[in-house]
Amino acid sequence: MSDFTSSRIEGFHKLDPAARLEAVRRQANLDNLAAGDLADAAAGQIALADRLIENAISSIAIPVGIATNMTVDGRDVLVPMATEESSVIAAVCNSAKRCRDTGGFRTSTSGPLMAAQIQLVGASDPENVRLQVLEHLEDIRAICDDTDPLLLKVGGGFRELDIRVIESTEGPMTIVHIIVDTRDAMGANAVNSMAEAVAPKLEEWTGARSLLRILTNLADRRVARVRAVWPLAEIGGETVRDDMLSAYRFADADPYRAATHNKGIMNGISAVVLATGNDTRAIEAGAHAYAARDGRYRSMSRWEKDRDGNLVGTLELPMAVGLVGGATKIHPTAQANLKILGVSTADELARVIVSIGLAQNFGAMRALATTGIQKGHMALHAQNVALMVGAVGKEVDIVASELKSLGKVRQDLAEEILDRLRATPQG
Ligand code: MEV
Repeated sequence: MSDFTSSRIEGFHKLDPAARLEAVRRQANLDNLAAGDLADAAAGQIALADRLIENAISSIAIPVGIATNMTVDGRDVLVPMATEESSVIAAVCNSAKRCRDTGGFRTSTSGPLMAAQIQLVGASDPENVRLQVLEHLEDIRAICDDTDPLLLKVGGGFRELDIRVIESTEGPMTIVHIIVDTRDAMGANAVNSMAEAVAPKLEEWTGARSLLRILTNLADRRVARVRAVWPLAEIGGETVRDDMLSAYRFADADPYRAATHNKGIMNGISAVVLATGNDTRAIEAGAHAYAARDGRYRSMSRWEKDRDGNLVGTLELPMAVGLVGGATKIHPTAQANLKILGVSTADELARVIVSIGLAQNFGAMRALATTGIQKGHMALHAQNVALMVGAVGKEVDIVASELKSLGKVRQDLAEEILDRLRATPQG
């Protein structure tokens, strides 16, 4: 822990980012090098950071790489991925290449329907409340559509009501879902505003008290689906295929394995979501909740063999991403990444994202069912360890390649190699 004296910094939010950084430098006893690193990291982007969040002092750059070989619905697409993890992008490129001959990734979507929840409490007759609200369908439509005329203009707007009475430890409550077509927006702002506008009316009509008014990230009316076929020859034969199927069944049966299997899928998904300035936490929350929709946390993907013995993978997930609004629209890197993708609707983006998730899952399962994951990780991991022990310039490659040839990527060994290297006079 740093030995700063207090977490109070009077008027901190009113300072400009440079002054905030200076205040933090003093309070946290930061050396000039660290403070300089924070300043440099945000170079050119600090005004943007200051607009996006509160109390901004810097930015942290996540590498953006390109997944090649992807064919989605017959169109080749270069996919920008923002990730700090080695092997993630290589795995996608490799998996995508192996299913190109069977047409790549085929997708479908359910349409961009988002839901906001309004919690109605304190009524002794929650079923009656439910029907009272349903009687006001057209009033609710009018309030919602008035809240966002722009959305209406582009073909979106209120679509329907879905109302449930749920049991809770404080008794039954009536939960109103307003279902809205949010078109190319992620839709959080639109549906939250609608829920807040509708709630007082619900109180008036029913006598119940409205409490929470917020979207659900379990966007199960906004799912994107993908399927792809990997020919036996591309997998490495029947044994590998059967071992991959067994790996999938393990994930589907055991939440401990499912968490890791699904984390691999999200390695790909979150990387594209982040690269396009979308909300990674919204997508992650929705994906994991969807994976537990049967009451048990399971694999997000499904794997089968087709009648020719090829491996078929399918994936269906809520995919609430947008092209308008939020960081997507104002972050120049997100905008540039969208240009690389060449998508013109949020629906197209959702299709690419689930395709990347499936490719990622194929790559992880194949590696795990064959050589294991460490071999693929070795090259970049060795470089990271070399950097970690202080190797610079040409030393990085020398230390990394010695670690690889030892077959042991360990920090203590890296230190030894670096010490030896530096003690040897270079000719
Ligand atoms: C590592 O980030 C992801 C994997 O653990 C996924 C998996 O186990 O399926 C390799």
